[in-house]
Amino acid sequence: NSKADEDGDSRDFVALMEKNNKNVIVFYGSQTGTAEDLASKLAKELSSKYGLRTMTADPENFDFEKLDTFPESHLAVFLMASYGDGEPTDNAQDLYSFLGNSPSFSQDGETLENLNFAVFGLGNVLYEFYNKAGKDMHKYLTDLGGHSIGPYGEGDDSKGMLEEDYMAWKDEFLAALVAKWGLTEREAVYEPSISVKEIEEDAHSHDVYLGEPNLKHLQASKAQEIPKGPYNASNPMLAKITAARELFTNTDRHCIHMEFDTTGARYTTGDHLAFWFQNNEEEVQRFVKALGIANPQQPIAISVLDKTSTVRIPSPTTYETIIRHFLEINGPVSRQVLSSIAPFAPSEEVKKATQQLGSNKELFASHVAAKKFNIARLLLHLSGGQPWKNVPFSFVIETIPHLQPRYYSISSSSVQSPNTVSITAVVERQTLTGVDHELRGVATNQILALSEALVGHPSMTYRLQQPHDFTNSLSSQDIRVPVHIRHSLFKLPGKPTVPIIMVGPGTGVAPFRGFVHERASQKAAGKEVGKAMLFTGSRHANEDFLYRDEWKQFSDFLDLETAFSRDSSKKVYVQHKLKERAKDVFALLNEGAVFYVCGDAGGMSHDVHSALLEIVAQEGNLSSEDADKFVRKMRSRNKYQEDVW
Ligand code: 2AM
Repeated sequence: NSKADEDGDSRDFVALMEKNNKNVIVFYGSQTGTAEDLASKLAKELSSKYGLRTMTADPENFDFEKLDTFPESHLAVFLMASYGDGEPTDNAQDLYSFLGNSPSFSQDGETLENLNFAVFGLGNVLYEFYNKAGKDMHKYLTDLGGHSIGPYGEGDDSKGMLEEDYMAWKDEFLAALVAKWGLTEREAVYEPSISVKEIEEDAHSHDVYLGEPNLKHLQASKAQEIPKGPYNASNPMLAKITAARELFTNTDRHCIHMEFDTTGARYTTGDHLAFWFQNNEEEVQRFVKALGIANPQQPIAISVLDKTSTVRIPSPTTYETIIRHFLEINGPVSRQVLSSIAPFAPSEEVKKATQQLGSNKELFASHVAAKKFNIARLLLHLSGGQPWKNVPFSFVIETIPHLQPRYYSISSSSVQSPNTVSITAVVERQTLTGVDHELRGVATNQILALSEALVGHPSMTYRLQQPHDFTNSLSSQDIRVPVHIRHSLFKLPGKPTVPIIMVGPGTGVAPFRGFVHERASQKAAGKEVGKAMLFTGSRHANEDFLYRDEWKQFSDFLDLETAFSRDSSKKVYVQHKLKERAKDVFALLNEGAVFYVCGDAGGMSHDVHSALLEIVAQEGNLSSEDADKFVRKMRSRNKYQEDVW
């Protein structure tokens, strides 16, 4: 409550809405930015199509004690992502614990009978407790007496169709809202909520923000200093890369082990490292070309026209800086973006074609999604290479999703190396049939480029562009990148004697390297450590088996099982090895072992779960229902932990 005292009324969103004359608020529970992006698009649509006075809001910035005073003439929309095992996102934790534990107003006998609300959940069926956060929010608000406008909706991100689920829900919600409030639809006109002006300023002046990774520059753009802690998502640290090496041999694929000096930031084994990458120059320049920006290095001033806008971009800056550091220009294009950009097409013909693709789900799937276009490639494809000069840059900032850091499981132990964090990143490059360009993971390819720069062979394929305050740092001695630590719940048991079973093929082995190193240093310090089983694997024993030479030194407490999927005519996977060792696995579970799975959330984690159920049923002589109960109980007691993506 000290926070509330400090900020006084600024945490009261009902008052804020009154002050800014708003009648619709769209809250987002967002971890990776998807819900936030959908929220801003929904707010924009409700205002441009129906004349509603909308704002978006991060629930973390507000208190909900006065939710019962929310006016009946208003609407609150909640777009809530589930994260991990059905938990609310970090920015929605407080909101959930408030609503879920008989909130203060309900203790005073008040209900939410005036509250009009709508909830959409963003989740992934591959995770336990699918869309729990969305479902819970709907239930809390309904139980407290609120009125849902249209049905509760939810989307599944497992097959890349989340946006389609969302749009189907949105249609129903809008129809219900239109009926309830008697709204009339008008032709949507773009009304900017930020202004972008070209200014007379030397682009190399230190006032002009060129991508320095400290977001504190948002407040004080002059401070060209290395950021100081505490480090977090809005204040990443500039960590020096202290080592990097290739882990694959005999293959044209790459997997980079990279170490960062994170002195000053605290982590514990099993946490994630957030890496704030920047867009590849080739794609930055393609985007510049697609929009026909004549002078990408032109200094521009950005100001917010609507006080409630959550857009946060430093100013003054340049077009190119925004494209390089703030916009997700390489992600798949969404159908909503395509529809909204159509009015700015360079010709009537192109506009029609764009509108058609944006409004037709099937056409969009086959002509856009399947071709893996990014926005610049798509725009140039649609216009036959003509630049889209009419697209206002404010629209670009408001419409293209904003760049989010990428997260990697930390592969070092905080006990053994408290000030050095390592990650294990496989470099994503892929050619697909029917797609005429190679697909590259932007962040992992930057990691590859950084590792090459570190050993003095700057990459030819990924040009690194550094802002002026550390331009000179791109020597192999001192390469720094913005990072921060994200704490996770994927943790070793408190007692080193508790046995552990770890399952992690491919880069899924990363956190387990940390776990094993931690146990080894505990052992070296004279502590007794429990048994540890590790099931890992790769395609080939002598090509991509990660940390192959490291494991031997731990053989006194580590029981290692490897599965190589492409060394024989038959696929051998970790779950096969797990079943071969069914007796030992079950015995360890009975000794209280914690079971960990890390890696691919698609097939692997699911298959491992099934294998465990079989083992428990077989070794424990249990029916499949009882085996299921056994494993559920493991989960609820934190004895079954997943770090999957
Ligand atoms: P594959 O590519 O030969 O099919 C790391 O990616 C390792 O995980 C690879 O050996 C890969 O095998 C394997 N893998 C792929 N699908 C899997 C699944 N469903 N369960 C377990 N391992 C899997």
